[in-house]
Order: sequence, then structure tokens, then C-alpha cells
Amino acid sequence: MKQSINIKSVINGRKVEKTISPSLLLINFIREELGLKGTKPGCLEGECGACTVLIDGVAVNSCLYLAVNIDGKEVTTVEGLSLDSQDASLDPVQEAMIANGAVQCGFCTPGMVMSIKSFQKECEMNNIVPDREAIKKAIEGNLCRCTGYVKIVDAVESLFTTD
Ligand code: FES
Ligand code: FES
Repeated sequence: MKQSINIKSVINGRKVEKTISPSLLLINFIREELGLKGTKPGCLEGECGACTVLIDGVAVNSCLYLAVNIDGKEVTTVEGLSLDSQDASLDPVQEAMIANGAVQCGFCTPGMVMSIKSFQKECEMNNIVPDREAIKKAIEGNLCRCTGYVKIVDAVESLFTTD
């Protein structure tokens, strides 16, 4: 019989303490134990990026990550993004996706948004204004069947345009 493990984490700004199976995947913990269904199960093999969340600000595939490993860490899912601005408004990444028509069926969008968020923060920290090639590379782990990526790249580019 598997032993359960107690974990403490901060999820979307809220302290969470749970006793879970050591084999529980983070995506299942987020969706089933916490009821946060914005994180999408796609391939469940680390190939599509639909399940992307941030752990201590870094984008990870939650389908490949054991939930016990979030102990002592901060997790942000797509539901937690607006907490950055302390209100219910959308995050600038979400606004940019909408403004640029970068969302069609929307299945990839939560994971895409989380990867872009991580990339945006990394660029800002390093004072980098990325070109389109760098943006394409940053989102290459997130598959989109609908948009052809051009409008998604436009959306990311707009985050770094000041005028
Ligand atoms: S569901 Fe995790 S990478 Fe596809
Ligand atoms: S908008 Fe449909 S998969 Fe990306």
C-alpha cells in the first residue's frame, strides 16, 4: 500500500495543505483535488503544453510533474493570473491574446498563456525585447491546432511594444 505524503504549497496565492499519494500527477491534483479545470489535459506525455502551469514562476508540464514536488513551492495556474493585479481583470497576456485574435477553440490557450507569462517575466528580468524567432522558440512546446501561431506570436510581440 502506498504511503500518503503531506504537502504544503501556495497555489494562486492561497496556502494549501493536503495529504496525497506520492504518485499523484500535478495535473490531476490541480484539476481533481483543487477543482481548477483551466489547466487542460492534452497528450499527457509532455508533448503538447496544454497542461502548463508555473512553479515558482517557471513553466512546467503538469502532466509530467509529481504533485508531491510542489511542497514548499508556489504554483500558479491560469485561474491565478489576475491575482497579480489584485483584482478580477485579465492578465496583460490574456488581453493581448484576445486583442490579437490569437484564440480559436481555446483548448491550448491556458497552457499557451502560462508559457508566455513565464517568457514575458524572464525577458523583463533580463531587459530583453524578443524578436519573432525568440518568441516562436519560447512557445514551441505549446501546440495549437487552430491558429497557425502567427496571431499568437503577434500577441506576444505586442507585450513588448510600448507605443
Ligand atoms: S497534457 Fe501535458 S504536455 Fe500535453
Ligand atoms: S486555439 Fe485551438 S488548439 Fe489553439
